[in-house]
Amino acid sequence: MQKRQLGRYGLETSAIGYGAMGISLAYGPSDEQDGLAAIRKAFELGVTLFDTAELYGFGANEKLLGQAVKGFRDDIQIATKFGYTPDFGLDSHPAHIREVLDNSLRYLGTDHVDVFYQHRVDPAVPIEDVAGAVGELIAAGKVRYFGLSEAGPSTIRRAHAVQPVSVLQTEYSLFERDVETLFPTLTELGIGFVPYSPLGRGFLTGTARPASQYDETDMRRTDPRWQPGNFEKNLKSVAQLTDLAKEMDATISQLALAWLLAQGENVVPIPGSRSQARVAENVGAASLTLTPGDLERIAAILPDGGHGARYVESFLPHWD
Ligand SMILES: NC(=O)c1ccc[n+]([C@@H]2O[C@H](COP(=O)([O-])OP(=O)(O)OC[C@H]3O[C@@H](n4cnc5c(N)ncnc54)[C@H](OP(=O)(O)O)[C@@H]3O)[C@@H](O)[C@H]2O)c1
Repeated sequence: MQKRQLGRYGLETSAIGYGAMGISLAYGPSDEQDGLAAIRKAFELGVTLFDTAELYGFGANEKLLGQAVKGFRDDIQIATKFGYTPDFGLDSHPAHIREVLDNSLRYLGTDHVDVFYQHRVDPAVPIEDVAGAVGELIAAGKVRYFGLSEAGPSTIRRAHAVQPVSVLQTEYSLFERDVETLFPTLTELGIGFVPYSPLGRGFLTGTARPASQYDETDMRRTDPRWQPGNFEKNLKSVAQLTDLAKEMDATISQLALAWLLAQGENVVPIPGSRSQARVAENVGAASLTLTPGDLERIAAILPDGGHGARYVESFLPHWD
């Protein structure tokens, strides 16, 4: 697979990464062996960027990722995140950041993480203090690159002035476009971009079902895009995109990922899947190049994204 530079501070990864969250959180029950096999399949197919977080099971997801990559850890980039508490509160105090990293290193079975992201901005801790704490971990060799997730332009600039930010991770897909307003800031500061939920939490794969049909633990039961009214409109757009993908001998998942890759050379999406076959399908998107004409046809189907908000109100990040 092709490589991409994520920002101008030295981080290089595969053009498509892998997100491990779904193995432990958000999308219903999972089989650990399937998760391990999916991660290993991704590596076999050229993926080198693997994304996890403390939040994804407070040890469970990081342990599983560490186990999966044991034989090839030095050939990949591991990204993890700090800053959430188990009750979905926030804690980015420097002492806590250091404690989380030590736990993450132990769970992952490694002596460094390649990207250490603040998972959400913590209004109780100045971002300069967060950047300073991560900077010290970089100086100590425990972290290679600093990342932010769901941060706004002013926060990014303030953090960057203390410790260069290599990468921003925020939701971005054919269904979710708000982050495009931050692209000029990222370009100016030389920051790479990792779109999360690049398949719209599975909606952009053609497999969406009505909300009530998902497991009790699956967040799509309450996701606004799955609720009656929005759901039917989103299904219609997905059907149109599926027809367009067929004309390209591709699947809608591949079209959705290729569209992200076409948005900029500094963009590396991290689709998540617990199935080896679906991982292979997603990786196939790296071989699909969309022409300007294809991009116009996609824009005609979905000019501004999907119908419905990306989170229920209480979880919607507000950027500063
Ligand atoms: N920074 C943040 O706050 C944040 C928030 C959310 C996510 N993330 C990161 O971003 C990663 C990806 O996002 P995501 O997992 O939320 O959403 P996603 O990648 O958009 O979609 C994942 C869903 O799509 C399904 N899927 C994937 N490929 C498929 C295919 N080819 N055909 C059919 N279904 C397919 C998966 O099911 P199966 O597993 O059953 O295949 C899963 O239900 C996460 O794993 C996590 O690392 C970060």
